[in-house]
Amino acid sequence: MGEFVTLTYQGESFELPVIVGSEGEKAIDISKLRSETGLITLDPGYANTGACQSSITFMDGEKGILRYRGIPVEELAQHSTFKETAYLLINGRLPNTAELRHFSIMLNDHSLIHEDMKAFYQNFPTASHPMGILSAMVNALRSFYPELETSEEETNIMVTRLLAKIRTMAAMSYKISRGHTVVYPRPDLAYCENFLNMMFDTPVKPYRLKKEVIRALQVFWILHADHEQNCSTSAVRVVGSGRVNFYAAISAGIAALWGPLHGGANQAVVDMLTAIHNDGGNFRKAINRAKDKNDPFRLMGFGHRVYKTYDPRAKIMKKICDQLLDSLDKHDPLLDIARELEAVALEDPYFIDYNLYPNIDFYSGIVLRAIGIPTSMFTVMFAIGRLPGWIAQWKESMDDPNWRICRPRQIYIGPNINHYIPIEKRE
Ligand code: CMC
Repeated sequence: MGEFVTLTYQGESFELPVIVGSEGEKAIDISKLRSETGLITLDPGYANTGACQSSITFMDGEKGILRYRGIPVEELAQHSTFKETAYLLINGRLPNTAELRHFSIMLNDHSLIHEDMKAFYQNFPTASHPMGILSAMVNALRSFYPELETSEEETNIMVTRLLAKIRTMAAMSYKISRGHTVVYPRPDLAYCENFLNMMFDTPVKPYRLKKEVIRALQVFWILHADHEQNCSTSAVRVVGSGRVNFYAAISAGIAALWGPLHGGANQAVVDMLTAIHNDGGNFRKAINRAKDKNDPFRLMGFGHRVYKTYDPRAKIMKKICDQLLDSLDKHDPLLDIARELEAVALEDPYFIDYNLYPNIDFYSGIVLRAIGIPTSMFTVMFAIGRLPGWIAQWKESMDDPNWRICRPRQIYIGPNINHYIPIEKRE
């Protein structure tokens, strides 16, 4: 016998079933609330709303736990590759050797993009943000690959095609924005290596792949690979629920990720640390501004809707950041500022009371800088990493037997009936 919550309204009682997840988290099933009581729920920002049941990612924000398909992200960051983690998220389990080899072959075979797409890149104004370009280009893929995604095999090809092409598209946009020759993917290089080579190789200066850089990028992408029902993933599900094509749904996710409160925070953190550095390293001013309720400024890279403790991804990212800078023998003054900022914030009653800890974006920008990624491309790097998660969530929503178009309601607070006045009679 399952649990129920009793709602009493106007003298009548209604029993609402309690749904229990596999980790014991509980939700009140309100799917019949309106039809039985006439009421709806109101939850701005959806902080108390479960939009779906999902078997992809588990997060416990109080304990700082993150698992993909049950596997702790710490184990994946230590032992897996981004490609294998992508397979895990999309297919629900780790691949065997033959499956991983087949997946690699598909990623290689689909890695080129239609040559006509190059012309699109060349016609964006030079100041265009790479996230706007990426979102537009992913949407445009539908015109180049219009076949219907009906069978399971067609769906697999379609999603692998996007995984393969997104790194080529991202690197190509960078090369074209710099006026450089485009570098094509190579069949002898694996996923991360290929991306780095397409970004940094030039005809006059061959790019030397370094294992520490490859590992840092693998971990960066593994840590970003999924994060359950965040803003961009919800955008993919909501847009996909109208049964638009796959590319349009992912393009919506990329657009949603762009915002500074979401994926754009990695760029915003480095912009903030740079501003502090240019101001003589005065990080206390930033802390004071973040606490001032009359100032809209927020400490970027701090706080999270779900994590009320240290973001487990930030812990790993911080370690990777230290290791990478050490191995490259690099010193980044922004890292010194970040460390000082974190130490002071974690002792400050404001940040303690609000449970504000560093999130994944606090150290990730410094890792990307060390790899050589320009700041404007940071959120594109997040998008490439998040793609397996968006794909897995989109597939799950398409296969959900309880699927319905996402269509929230509202409480109307506008004027009551108000008749039309012809223009000559208006004041
Ligand atoms: N600096 C200062 N105050 C903050 C911060 C911050 N970074 N984050 C939250 N607060 C305060 C906020 O002012 C509010 O105070 P009050 O209740 O007095 O008005 C309170 O904490 C709750 O904030 P909220 O905006 O209602 O919390 P939320 O759960 O809606 O927002 C967040 C979460 C991540 C948008 C927010 O913490 C934030 O803006 N952080 C900075 C941006 C950032 O680093 N984003 C990356 C998130 S991790 C990557 C990803 O998964 O997208």
